[in-house]
Order: sequence, then C-alpha cells, then structure tokens
Amino acid sequence: MPVHGLLPILLCFLPVWRSLTPAWSHPHSSQCQLVLRMAICSNGELSSVPARLPDNIEELQLNYNAIQTLKDASLSRYPSLNTLGLACNKLEKLESKTFEGLKLLESLNLASNNLYIGYQETGLALKKLSRLRVLDLSENKLDDEMVVALLQNLTSIEYLNLSGNLLQRLDEASFRDLHQLRELDLQRNIMFEIDGAFDSTPRLQRLNLAFNYLPCLTNFHMSQLVVLNASHNNLEWFISRQDLNDTFQLDTLDLSNNNLLFFPFLPSRSRLRYLYLSHNAIRFYERFADDATLQNSSATVEFYNLKTQAANVTARLWDDGLHGDISSLEMLDLRENQMDYFPDGFIQKMPNLSRLRMCTNCLDSLNLTSEQFSSSLYELDVSNNRLSQVSADEGTLASLGNLTYFNLSLNDLEKVPVRLFSSLRSIRSVDVSYNNIDLCFPGEAEIDTHSSTCVEWSNIGSLRQLYLKGSNLKTVPTSAFTGLSLTHLELSDNPGLILQESIEPLSRTLQHLGLGNTHMQDFDFSHFQSLKSLNISKNSLERLPSSLLNLNLRVLDLRDNRLSTIPSGQAGVLALSLQTVFLSGNPFNCCQIEWFRTLEAAETVTMVDRSVIECEDLFLITHRVAHPQSVQCIDERGESIVWYILLFVSGCLFAVVILAFVVLAARPQMLPKSIKKNYLSIRLSDTL
Ligand SMILES: *[C@@H]1O[C@H](CO)[C@@H](O)[C@H](O)[C@H]1NC(C)=O
Ligand SMILES: *[C@@H]1O[C@H](CO)[C@@H](O)[C@H](O)[C@H]1NC(C)=O
Ligand SMILES: *[C@@H]1O[C@H](CO)[C@@H](O)[C@H](O)[C@H]1NC(C)=O
Ligand SMILES: *[C@@H]1O[C@H](CO)[C@@H](O)[C@H](O)[C@H]1NC(C)=O
Ligand SMILES: *[C@@H]1O[C@H](CO)[C@@H](O)[C@H](O)[C@H]1NC(C)=O
Ligand SMILES: *[C@@H]1O[C@H](CO)[C@@H](O)[C@H](O)[C@H]1NC(C)=O
Ligand SMILES: *[C@@H]1O[C@H](CO)[C@@H](O)[C@H](O)[C@H]1NC(C)=O
Ligand SMILES: *[C@@H]1O[C@H](CO)[C@@H](O)[C@H](O)[C@H]1NC(C)=O
Ligand SMILES: *[C@@H]1O[C@H](CO)[C@@H](O)[C@H](O)[C@H]1NC(C)=O
Ligand SMILES: *[C@@H]1O[C@H](CO)[C@@H](O)[C@H](O)[C@H]1NC(C)=O
Ligand SMILES: *[C@@H]1O[C@H](CO)[C@@H](O)[C@H](O)[C@H]1NC(C)=O
Repeated sequence: MPVHGLLPILLCFLPVWRSLTPAWSHPHSSQCQLVLRMAICSNGELSSVPARLPDNIEELQLNYNAIQTLKDASLSRYPSLNTLGLACNKLEKLESKTFEGLKLLESLNLASNNLYIGYQETGLALKKLSRLRVLDLSENKLDDEMVVALLQNLTSIEYLNLSGNLLQRLDEASFRDLHQLRELDLQRNIMFEIDGAFDSTPRLQRLNLAFNYLPCLTNFHMSQLVVLNASHNNLEWFISRQDLNDTFQLDTLDLSNNNLLFFPFLPSRSRLRYLYLSHNAIRFYERFADDATLQNSSATVEFYNLKTQAANVTARLWDDGLHGDISSLEMLDLRENQMDYFPDGFIQKMPNLSRLRMCTNCLDSLNLTSEQFSSSLYELDVSNNRLSQVSADEGTLASLGNLTYFNLSLNDLEKVPVRLFSSLRSIRSVDVSYNNIDLCFPGEAEIDTHSSTCVEWSNIGSLRQLYLKGSNLKTVPTSAFTGLSLTHLELSDNPGLILQESIEPLSRTLQHLGLGNTHMQDFDFSHFQSLKSLNISKNSLERLPSSLLNLNLRVLDLRDNRLSTIPSGQAGVLALSLQTVFLSGNPFNCCQIEWFRTLEAAETVTMVDRSVIECEDLFLITHRVAHPQSVQCIDERGESIVWYILLFVSGCLFAVVILAFVVLAARPQMLPKSIKKNYLSIRLSDTL
C-alpha cells in the first residue's frame, strides 16, 4: 500500500534529478571521475569511449573496461588528449582512423589486450600519432612479425614496453624506425636470438631482456646503454667488443640467474657501478689450468646465428686478467657461483667497491692483506664458503674503516686474527655463526698474537648485531659482552650453553635475543626492558618463564618446547604487546586452551603457525587447536571425568564379584553356570 503512494512522488523527482546531473553524464560515463583536465573512467563495464566528457580533457583513463574495438572517430571529440589509457580491456583492434585529429597524443597504454588479432589495422592507426613518445604494448600475444607491423614509422617513440609477448627473434627490421628510443622493456618473451636489432636505436639507455631464452650476448657494443638487464636467461657468454675505444656509459648490468661459466668480458672502458652476477656458475680458470699447455694458448669461441653468419670471438679464456674495466664498481654480487679464488689484483682493481656479496661460493681462504680491499668497503658477505682461515694484519684492518656488515657464517673457520673485529672502526653487524670460533676467556687471546681460535668481543663500541649461532659454545665468560651496546644477539643452536650473568651488561640495549636450542631452563629476563623479540624455541620448557610478563615483547618463538598450557592470565598479559608468536610443537592439553582463544581474540597478535598448533585430548589423541571438533573433554576440570568413569566401573565389578561369591557359597554345585552368568553381567556393566 505505501509503495503505491510513493511511486508518483519518485516520478515527480525524476525530471528534477535529470536536470541536476551535468550534461556530460551519459549512462556510459556514470563511473567517470573528472579531476582538472583528466577523466578517469577505469574499472567499469564500458564497451566504448564515453561520448559526453568535456571536449577539452587532456587525459583519459579507460583501463579495466570491456572495450573490444576502438572505432574511427570515437575519440575525435577530444582533440586535446595527450594521454590515453586502455590497459586491460578486450581490445582486438584500433580502427585505422581512430586517431585522426588527435595531433597531441603522447602517451598510449594498450597493455593486456588482444591486439594480436587486429594488429595490421592497429598499426595503420598508430602511424597517425606523430608525437607519440610512450607506448605500452605489453601482454598482447604479439609475435615478431606483428611487432614490426605495429612499430613501422613510429619515429617519435621514446619509451616502449613489449614485455609479456611472444617475441622470439629480433633483427635489423624489428625497431628500424625507432630512432628516438630511450627505454625498451622486452622482459618475459621467448627470445632466443638478437641480431643487429639495436643498430638503429642509438639513444637507447635502458634495456630489459630479463626472463627470455637468450643463450649468449656477444659482440656487445651499445656504448650508450646505461642499464642492461639480461637476468633469467640461458646466457653462457657475455662478451663485449674489446676493440672499441669509447667509454661505455653502462652503469648497471644484471646478468644474474644465467649459466655463465666465465666472469663476463666487460667493455675495456666503462663506468659500470652495479654488477649483478648471482646464480651462475662463474669461476676463474688460470689456477685450474695451471697446466703449461693451456697457459699460453688462446681459445676461440665461435658463435653462429640463424643466418649462419659465424662470429669469431677470440679470447684468452684462461687469462684471469681479461675481465674488462671494473674500476668503477661499487657493488659486485657474485652470490651462488663457483668462485674458488680471486685472481691476483682483482679486488685491488675496484677502488670504490663498497658491497661484495660472495655468499655460497667455494672460497677456501681469505687474506685481507693481500687482496687490498678498498677503504670504501661497507658490506662483505663471504658466508657459506669453505673458509678455514681469514688473515689480515693490523694495518689492513685499520684501513677498512667503512666496513659495517661482515658475514662469515657457514664456513669452517677455526682461526681468525686476534683483533679482526675490534680493529674495524665502523663495524655494526658480525655473523660468525656455524663456525668453530669460540669466545675468549680473559687473557686467552694474548697467547697467540696473530691468529686465535677465540674472539674477544668486549668493548667493540660500534657493534650492534652479533650472530654466534651453532658455534659449539659451552660457557660464556662473565666478561664476554662488557662494554658492548648490542641490540641483537643470537646464541641459538648452542646446546648446553651456560650463560651465567654474562649477558647482563646488555640488558639496557638488547632488543633481540636468540636462545633457541640451547637447553636453557628458567632464565630471568626481567632486566631486559628493551627486549622486543625473543627466541626460546627447542628448549624443553614446561612453563613460560614468568619474567617474560614484565617485558613489552613483540615477537616470541616458543616452538618445540614442552608447554601443556599457558595460564590465561599470562596469555592476557602477552596479548597486550605481542605481534607475532610461534607456538607449534608443544604438547598442549586440548582441555586447557583458553590461551588460544585469548591470543586469537587479540587482533594485534599473529600466530604464525596457527593452523599447525596441536593439542592432545584425554585419550592422547592429537587435534589441531584451531579445529577442536571432537575433543573429549566436558568442562574445565575435564580430567576428573575419567576418575568418575573408572570409579563407577570398578564399583560395579566389585558388587558383581561379591554377589557371585554369595551365590556360589550357597550353591556350590552350580559353579559352571554361574560363571557364565557373571561373565554376562560384567559385560553388561562394562557397556553401561
Ligand atoms: C613509413 O616508412 C616507410 C619506410 O620505412 C616509408 O616508405 C613510408 O612512406 C612511411 N609512411 C608514412 C605514412 O610515413
Ligand atoms: C611493462 O609492462 C609490464 C606488464 O604490463 C610491467 O610489469 C612493467 O613494469 C612495464 N615496464 C616498464 C619499464 O614500465
Ligand atoms: C632485472 O629484471 C628483473 C625482472 O624484472 C628484476 O627482478 C630485477 O630487479 C632487475 N634488475 C635490476 C638490477 O634492476
Ligand atoms: C682505438 O685506439 C687504438 C690506439 O689508440 C687505435 O689503434 C684503434 O684503431 C682504435 N680503435 C677504434 C675502433 O677506433
Ligand atoms: C708461454 O709464454 C711465455 C712468454 O710469453 C714463454 O716464456 C713460455 O715459454 C711459453 N710457454 C709455453 C709452454 O709455450
Ligand atoms: C674462426 O677462427 C677459426 C680459428 O682461427 C677459423 O678456423 C675459422 O675459419 C674462423 N671462422 C670465421 C667465421 O672467421
Ligand atoms: C670513485 O668514487 C669517487 C667519488 O664518488 C669518484 O669521484 C671517482 O671517480 C670514483 N672512481 C672511479 C674509478 O670510478
Ligand atoms: C697474506 O698476504 C700477505 C701479503 O701478501 C702475506 O704477507 C701473508 O703471509 C699472507 N698471509 C697468509 C696467512 O697467507
Ligand atoms: C661508506 O659506505 C657507505 C655505504 O656504501 C657510503 O655511503 C659511504 O660513502 C662510504 N664512506 C666512505 C668513507 O667510503
Ligand atoms: C649471513 O649469511 C647467511 C648465509 O648466507 C644468512 O643466512 C644470514 O642471514 C646472514 N646474516 C646476516 C646477519 O645477514
Ligand atoms: C629460533 O631459533 C631456532 C633455532 O635456531 C630457529 O630454528 C628458528 O627459526 C628461530 N625462530 C625464528 C622466528 O627465527
């Protein structure tokens, strides 16, 4: 009834509402948002260009709609457009006269469409854009031939994105007209060959070839290039032309995740600062090829391409000196290679080297004195090698005044220079985990002045983070950490570690403490008021150390202990500050999991391993705490139920046995029959 009354009123309002909406609000453009001269009509279901936007808009964003064809003249109303976004539509083609009259368009985004269908007509449309500078054609299933057709005559393009297409092979024809090209993204195609494709793009500065199938880059001579990314290919060779005298502008070269066997043959003059070579099989061969016959021989590599034009590259492959100009390098990333030594003078050639990442290689010794690292060295990571010894004299250590991060973990170190770390003025973070380096007792280090099996850490004022995991530490001397202002101390994986009062000097500054797998029992954490993160996993703890409750912990690892519960009060206190907690691997009691609900209810707490935290019920059946469907416990005092059942059953049995005796005593001749009866009644009472 009231609906009937409302309808005329609504109808009355309709004309008023119509006249209030602005003239350009066409049904199609109802999702458009106008900001200055920009119209944003993205994320709608538009199937064509909205027709009633203001004529003078300069930018139109139509991304994430359902436009299939861009029709001739559909944009002619907007002659001032300089930016047009059509990414993520269903575009199959742009009709050839689409851009007639759009003389000002500079930036066109056609990413993630289906332009492989109508590429020829689209190509004709694009030719009209004489000012186009930025073009995104990524993810359109375009192959080599289509790209040639699309890019013909686009002489003004500066930024081109062709990533995520189906390009296989590039040659002189591919980018013939793109004389102004500065940046080209060709990642994630299926390219296996490039032959002369960049001869007509003399201004190209940034080239991304990542995630393709290129087997080699030889004859590299693009001296104007600043950034080259050829990571994630199948490169076995990188060889630049050695006969050019120009200084290459190359600043960043990424050849990581390839199959390089040799250090890249870099240009003989360059400004290269960042060189990424991780995840290859690079090593040097001169020592390997110590054999006199190899020493003087030069090896020749022949490269063929599809046109069977062979290129001879002659290089003395075994010559360690032949790696080109590395004098400007600031960052060298050689993680996960096969390097077993640095060639003579190699490190010295990099006077500005600030970061050297050598983790996971095969280095077996490191002599800081003979290598002569630059005084700019800031980060040195030689973790996970085979180092048994590090040597350095006092003068060398004093010259490494900028060394801040030093990672020596996962080696076989037994000896290090006595003052290795105390002589490094800026040292902040040292990781010597998983070696055999002990902590010195007072006076111990002085016995051997050069190298020692122990390290004295006390009074290294700049040190903040110290990692001593898995070092077979047994007793930490009381004075071990005096004079330190550590924020981070890792002592995990030292089973049987005896700490005594040794970490008390750190109580004011320590923010992270790792004591996982140390067999620690109770420990008084109450002085460590700055502690934010604590790892006490794998320690057989049966209850939570109560001193934790006075701290403001954010991260707590309690995995793999013997906790059966966390008293609700304690869980409530922890929940006030905790952000991250690890609790799996404890034999929790399913009937006492109030703590779980407390932590779960606290929105700020994340139980990282929530879904795998388990508990045991009365019958020792394991359940997931997060899904306690069929847990056998009735109330909080769950266990007592067992006793009631046992009492009841044994009471019944007792009564039956007494009864049997009474009956038997009265009528001894009935023995076999009565036994049967008793048996029956016992069965009955059992099932009750
Ligand atoms: C396109 O370039 C070709 C040569 O590459 C030339 O012959 C042709 O006239 C150009 N077309 C237009 C429309 O500029
Ligand atoms: C090229 O397009 C891809 C996918 O659309 C995008 O991830 C990438 O960042 C773009 N490249 C540049 C240089 O903008
Ligand atoms: C090279 O490209 C890959 C893939 O896009 C990217 O992950 C990497 O960071 C790039 N390298 C550099 C040095 O920018
Ligand atoms: C490079 O310089 C050397 C000597 O200065 C000269 O012999 C050689 O021809 C030059 N190479 C080129 C490609 O200009
Ligand atoms: C290698 O070259 C050096 C000098 O260039 C020469 O003295 C030596 O005899 C050569 N060795 C062999 C095995 O040819
Ligand atoms: C490459 O060098 C080898 C050995 O010097 C020679 O036999 C071969 O003909 C050369 N190939 C070409 C294409 O120059
Ligand atoms: C080393 O860095 C300094 C300062 O950034 C710079 O002036 C110098 O040219 C660099 N040396 C080399 C060989 O690149
Ligand atoms: C380290 O190199 C220096 C200088 O080359 C040398 O004097 C010293 O004996 C070397 N140390 C070791 C342990 O090889
Ligand atoms: C020390 O290393 C940092 C980080 O790489 C750098 O910014 C700083 O300039 C370096 N200082 C010296 C004296 O080399
Ligand atoms: C040291 O290197 C190891 C192995 O590469 C790594 O797991 C560890 O996180 C590094 N330590 C620091 C403090 O970065
Ligand atoms: C805590 O220490 C143990 C033992 O070293 C380790 O396995 C675990 O990953 C550490 N926990 C966290 C959160 O890093």
